[in-house]
Amino acid sequence: MRSLIRLPAAARNLVSLVGAAMATAMAVLFLVLLLLDLLGYVTNPYIGLLVFVTVPVLFVAGLLLIPAGIWWDGRRRAPGEAPDWPVIDLRNARQRSVAVGVLALTIVNLVIVSMAAYGGVHYMESSEFCGQVCHTTMEPEYAAYQAWPHAQVACTACHVGPGAGALAESKLAGTRQLLQVATGRVARPVPSPVRTMRPARETCEQCHWPEKFHGDRTRTIREYASDEANTESVTTLRLHVGGGSRTLGVGTGIHWHMNLDNEIEYVATDERRETIPYVRLTDREGRVREFAVEGTTAEQLAGGERRRMDCLDCHNRPAHTFSPTPERAVDGAIAQGRVPRELPFVRREAVAAVGTEYATRVDALEGIARVLTEFYAGRTGADARLVARAVAAAQDVWSRNVFPVMNVSWGTYPNHLGHLEAPGCFRCHDDEHRAADGSVIRQGCEVCHSFE
Ligand code: HEC
Ligand code: HEC
Ligand code: HEC
Ligand code: HEC
Ligand code: HEC
Repeated sequence: MRSLIRLPAAARNLVSLVGAAMATAMAVLFLVLLLLDLLGYVTNPYIGLLVFVTVPVLFVAGLLLIPAGIWWDGRRRAPGEAPDWPVIDLRNARQRSVAVGVLALTIVNLVIVSMAAYGGVHYMESSEFCGQVCHTTMEPEYAAYQAWPHAQVACTACHVGPGAGALAESKLAGTRQLLQVATGRVARPVPSPVRTMRPARETCEQCHWPEKFHGDRTRTIREYASDEANTESVTTLRLHVGGGSRTLGVGTGIHWHMNLDNEIEYVATDERRETIPYVRLTDREGRVREFAVEGTTAEQLAGGERRRMDCLDCHNRPAHTFSPTPERAVDGAIAQGRVPRELPFVRREAVAAVGTEYATRVDALEGIARVLTEFYAGRTGADARLVARAVAAAQDVWSRNVFPVMNVSWGTYPNHLGHLEAPGCFRCHDDEHRAADGSVIRQGCEVCHSFE
């Protein structure tokens, strides 16, 4: 047993000893941290960086120092001589136990390194890593994401997709982005659309089956007036989402586009894909129709971006959705009961408070609290608890939508799903995209929804 612990003579030099000590300490630290992580004690995202990146790197560095030390020591003892290879004689009991020891340690090392690599890849795939470690840059998306239906879906399910190739590609891109962040050259706001986004087939469709027939989906939109009673008005839309495919016998409605039997290609002539002068439809029978806006020239089309339409051309903000305006955001919070509607004029005052431009987050939280508390101070019917709730909700609304450091504010990222606050569906459905046979991409309200 002693021979397992006692280092062989050649390794008894300063560099190897430091290496061995470092590797041992890091191995113990790694196992302890891993255990704490597995037991759920680790909640700080930076610990992950320590467990899966820093500690394993130091561990491997320690291991490498051991042979480096032996080599350096050999050179020092006999300068100029080619280092002699040791003769390993397994008939010698001591050498045999050293060999067994080295083999056992190598296995342990390999296990530690592969656990660290596996954990590291997983850790870097986690939404906490994306959203919190890369704090400022991803803050807008992370903050918004937590309030939407994909809050349990990892960032990488949409941004990386399955497969080793995708992972390697994204790690390359990630390294580039990390460099940009480190050198302060990151674009603020982060540009959208993301041109490196993978086709929806490899991301969304891993979870959503495109042929699923959704039928109509009823959406109730509640809006409030800026009067004393915060008067409510309700719009009920029946959205004809539809879906299906030829084999399933249905293929209507909004999801008709992504019905795999149809293919829509378009050309966008601006960065944000908001100006779409040309659309080409190949339907399930293979007939091609080309729709173009009058006056579109061949040069414009040649200079534009050609793209096959998929889920992202409508659902461009499925996970980290921002409100287009303060009015929308406050109305949503009133509808959910977070901003108490009983408070007179709360809609008008909350919209004004969150719509003001603030230089920093601290200014905003203070400013919102001050404006609302001052307004209600001394007003009859303004219960202090209700005012406190209104302040907290308004601060939350602001915090999920405005990020001064990243230059993200109301309307920075347009949502294509709709047509009121951004062109959305009306980029094509405007009655002006005309085919040779005179037909147009229709704008008639009933094409997409009916009102109840
Ligand atoms: C359900 C799928 C989905 C998930 C989950 C998701 N994203 Fe996105 N993300 C998108 C889509 C779609 C776009 C816009 C792509 C486009 O328009 O080309 C986007 C764009 C972005 C952008 C570019 C700027 C912007 O807001 O448009 C950033 C940054 C981003 N996502 C970060 C994140 C982070 C961080 C997470 C996890 C906290 C995350 N995303 C989770 C689908 C997703
Ligand atoms: C890892 C699985 C996964 C991926 C990938 C994914 N989603 Fe989802 N999606 C979900 C889950 C889970 C829900 C929530 C269902 C629920 O709460 O009823 C959801 C809900 C939705 C909804 C309904 C939201 C609502 O308002 O109710 C839409 C739209 C949607 N996803 C679109 C997309 C798009 C577009 C993509 C690709 C950019 C995508 N999803 C990628 C799992 C996923
Ligand atoms: C032409 C635009 C368009 C395309 C393309 C599109 N969708 Fe949708 N989708 C919509 C609209 C509009 C709704 C209804 C939105 C709402 O209820 O707010 C919807 C609703 C949904 C829902 C929720 C349905 C429900 O009943 O809850 C899911 C899930 C979804 N889409 C996934 C996808 C996926 C996945 C793709 C790509 C394979 C896709 N969509 C392509 C426009 C589109
Ligand atoms: C890139 C262009 C483009 C965009 C953007 C677009 N559409 Fe379409 N849409 C088309 C084309 C082309 C047709 C087929 C027109 C025809 O056959 O007359 C179509 C047809 C439809 C139909 C009729 C399907 C049927 O049953 O015949 C519906 C519904 C529809 N779109 C809804 C939407 C909604 C909702 C949005 C926005 C979320 C949207 N579209 C965005 C190009 C687009
Ligand atoms: C090409 C499809 C399409 C056409 C045509 C269309 N809409 Fe819409 N409309 C939508 C979609 C998609 C939404 C958004 C649903 C959502 O927010 O999820 C919407 C939302 C709305 C809303 C509610 C918006 C809100 O959030 O308050 C109103 C009001 C509306 N449409 C009116 C109209 C009127 C009026 C017409 C006829 C001029 C029309 N739409 C034509 C697809 C369409």
